[in-house]
Amino acid sequence: MKAILMATDVLLAPSILAADFGQLREQVQELDRLGGVDRIHVDVMDGTFVPNLSFGPMIVKVIREATRLPLDVHLMIVDPGRYYSAFQESGADFLTVHVEACPHLNRDLSEIHRLGMRAGVALNPGTTPVLLDSILDLADLILVMSVNPGFGGQQFIESSVAKIARVRAMLDAAGSMADLSVDGGISPATAHQVVEVGANVLVAGSAVFRHPDGIGKALGELRRAAAGG
Ligand code: DX5
Ligand code: ZN
Repeated sequence: MKAILMATDVLLAPSILAADFGQLREQVQELDRLGGVDRIHVDVMDGTFVPNLSFGPMIVKVIREATRLPLDVHLMIVDPGRYYSAFQESGADFLTVHVEACPHLNRDLSEIHRLGMRAGVALNPGTTPVLLDSILDLADLILVMSVNPGFGGQQFIESSVAKIARVRAMLDAAGSMADLSVDGGISPATAHQVVEVGANVLVAGSAVFRHPDGIGKALGELRRAAAGG
């Protein structure tokens, strides 16, 4: 049976990559205080899997200590299995790995579960969702990248909409309750079209942290747009 998603089912996951790192703790606390935030998305980059560097478990721990919101840690790194325990100890709730970085994806997802975290699988824009077929039963979250990962503030890739619809159909056919998350170029202009085809988690960096009228206003606009308003 096809899942029917209501606007209230849409979860917002601000991406901390776009925050002011000089005030990281305060910005995280602001997300917590404002309400309406469901998870904090944390981008880990190694300069090899993606052409940019961000941070590792130590910063995840700083964020963990500043909030009780679930931390959705997106690993854009090669050979991510070297760090699963470290991210678990730092307080990650979700650990998402890239299909393209994991030749032994079944083992990776099982290991993330064994450590007590929820396991996510990310797909680059150029990667076919067919690769999800044999691990759907192990995934708690599918992350469709709607930009090529590495940087915030990029333009939404339109073909992501068809891919999200395809992944939604795969999840429904498998009877999976996994989250379907979208990351990259999400703003009030793009939110509704991805929700309409079945996304239920919106990751947004620039649209939340770079809004001229502040984070609270940004969150309200995103939520309204997701609902089609
Ligand atoms: C990109 C990251 C995203 C990024 C999104 O590689 O995975 O999470 O922060 O930024 P915006 O929302 O600005 O496209
Ligand atoms: Zn991300």
